[in-house]
Amino acid sequence: MTEYQKLIDELTKNHILKSDELLQLIECNDAEALDYLFSKSRQCRELSYGKDIYIRGLIEISNCCKNDCYYCGIRRSNTNVQRYHLTTEQIRECCRLGYELGFRTFVLQGGEDLYYDDDKLCLLISEIKKEFSDCALTLSLGEKSRESYQRYYDAGADRYLLRHETANEVHYGRLHPDEMSAKNRKQCLYDLKEIGYQVGSGFMVGSPYQTTKLIVEDLLFLKDLQPAMVGIGPFIPHHETPFAAETGGTLEQTLTLIALIRLLLPHALIPATTALGTIASDGRSRGILAGANVIMPNLSPEDVRQKYMIYDNKLSTGAEAAESLNQLKEEMKKIGYQVVVSRGDVIKMKDDA
Ligand code: 5AD
Repeated sequence: MTEYQKLIDELTKNHILKSDELLQLIECNDAEALDYLFSKSRQCRELSYGKDIYIRGLIEISNCCKNDCYYCGIRRSNTNVQRYHLTTEQIRECCRLGYELGFRTFVLQGGEDLYYDDDKLCLLISEIKKEFSDCALTLSLGEKSRESYQRYYDAGADRYLLRHETANEVHYGRLHPDEMSAKNRKQCLYDLKEIGYQVGSGFMVGSPYQTTKLIVEDLLFLKDLQPAMVGIGPFIPHHETPFAAETGGTLEQTLTLIALIRLLLPHALIPATTALGTIASDGRSRGILAGANVIMPNLSPEDVRQKYMIYDNKLSTGAEAAESLNQLKEEMKKIGYQVVVSRGDVIKMKDDA
């Protein structure tokens, strides 16, 4: 048995490895070892979630943002963005359409937009939960105070997505302006967890200045946080950002990391992200075959989709669009998986530690 196989077996059994061992696996590009890794991560996912694929209807409620993250196309300094925010009625209309299509989770995602103050948001949350009482509601609206997070939770929000982006302070500082910090980001995540949300975190693969060592820190941070969800996708440069000329992350590295995260956190909900589908036409299927179990089609009104360009060429049509759910179902059926109508909550997490 090769050294890689030994490490993969140990990770499969214990759901943890030492830093230098994780590093070896992250850097592995031995095709046979990777096939073995993917077969183990698929098995692990099947033990937790069978062959089911959970879908989430992603509603991009606003592309206005007070932040200026160097990698993001809708950063404050990009004056070429046509800014919008959906009205609460538009958002509820998206949910209605999504419900008809079979979605039982709605994700409200947006920039850090002061237009949606806490009162407006809480009203919206409670209205959606009242109208769709069998659905889960996920928020992905950035960093807020603990009090605000508590208010949204009390209003009925079930889950919160906030990628940590990078666990390392110095690296964080190279991706974000001075007013943002890894420390605050992490604090938000621990607050959200304590309040009772199912929390999602994650990072970009191949972001500028990222090294394998830094990725190990990300994996260990995730292991410590024990999030219910982990979203990772390749970094893709946006031409109107300071990182326009940087190289993007690769499909291969992202797939390896999906598999490693699956084995580190067997019960995590892991999406095959839009970014993965954007860099390769079979990206999402390959994400599923590497151990992912969630897909988040776009449920935003069609006329705003082109305005939510966090990176170049972001997909929002084809199987990426909620209204093409049949295409997605076919894609998944071809590789032996089935899209299900379900809230798709995380399963028991106690023994993940
Ligand atoms: N490439 C890939 N992912 C990006 N994100 C933001 N900008 C980019 C980019 N250029 C990711 C961030 C953010 C999520 C909503 O999208 O990780 O948390």
